[in-house]
Amino acid sequence: MTFGVVAYPGNEEAAAALCGHLGAELIALESREFPDGESYFRLLAPVVGQDVVIACSLERPNSKALGLLFLAATLRDLGAARVILAAPYLAYMRQDKAFLAGECVSVRHFARLLSSSFDGLVTVDPHLHRIHALSEVYTIPTQVVRAAPAIAAWIAKEVTVPIVIGPDAESEQWASEIAADAKCPFVVLQKRRFGDRDVEVSVPDPSRLRGRTPVLVDDIISTARTMIAATEHLRQLGSAAPVCVGVHGIFAGRAYEDLKSAGVARIATCNTVMHPSNAMDLYPTIAENVRQIAQIVGGIA
Ligand code: R5P
Repeated sequence: MTFGVVAYPGNEEAAAALCGHLGAELIALESREFPDGESYFRLLAPVVGQDVVIACSLERPNSKALGLLFLAATLRDLGAARVILAAPYLAYMRQDKAFLAGECVSVRHFARLLSSSFDGLVTVDPHLHRIHALSEVYTIPTQVVRAAPAIAAWIAKEVTVPIVIGPDAESEQWASEIAADAKCPFVVLQKRRFGDRDVEVSVPDPSRLRGRTPVLVDDIISTARTMIAATEHLRQLGSAAPVCVGVHGIFAGRAYEDLKSAGVARIATCNTVMHPSNAMDLYPTIAENVRQIAQIVGGIA
C-alpha cells in the first residue's frame, strides 16, 4: 500500500524530505486565510483508503493547532484510512504540572486534542521531565526518534577534543548518551529559572574543561538564556568558546542573534525546526519511524 504526505503550510521542506525518504506521494493542499482570519483548506488529490501523513512541526503551536485539527478531520471526511502526524518538534511538553494553584497543565490538554484527531504520532526527543513517556498523556501510538546518535556523530566529526556539557538536570539524558556515542566526557550543570528570560546556571569545574572544547547540548533552545548563561561562565573561566548544540532550535525573538553575540564558536541544531543553524538531518530516521508507526496503526505493508 502506498501512502501520501500533506505539508501543513510552512512545512513544505519537511514534507518533501518525507516523500523522498518514503517514496510517498505529496498530496497538494490549497490553503488560505479569509479576511476575518479564519482558515480555508482544500485537498487537491483523492485520499480514499490511503494512509496520510501530515508534516507539521509544532514550534509556535497556537498558529497551527486549530488548522491542523481541521486538516486531519478533512482527511477523514475524504476517506483517508489513517491520519498520522509527523511533528518533529512537539509543543506543550514543558507545562507538565501546576506549579501555582490554578495553572493549566497544558501537556495533558494538548495531548488529548492531538490524540482525538490522529491515529499515530512521530516526534523527536519530546521534552520528557516529570512525564516519563508520551503514553502517560497520549492515547494514540507514538514513535520517538532519538537525536543523540546524529548529534554524537556530528560532534565526533566537527569538534576537536570535545567535552559535552548539559546545562540542567533534565539534559543529563541527552548529554550522557551523546558523550558515550561521541566517546568523550560530559558534565551536567544545575539550573534555576526565575522567569522566562531569567536563568541561573552553575559554574562547571574548570579542571574538567582544560584542553577541551565545551559543547553545550540542550533539547530546546528557546530564548537561548540557558545557553547564554552557561557560555558566560565558560568564557569567564577562560575556556575555549563553546559550540552550542540544540535538538530543537526554536529561537524565540532575537534569541539566535543574542546567542551568536554571546561569544560562542558555533550554533548547530537538528532540522526538527527548519532554521539556518540546522546541521544534523534527522529526516532519514523520522521517515523510518513514520513507516513503523504506519505499520503499528495498521496500514502500510
Ligand atoms: C528546559 O528545561 C529545556 O530543557 C531547555 O533547557 C529550555 O527550554 C531552554 O530554554 P531557553 O532557551 O529559553 O533558556
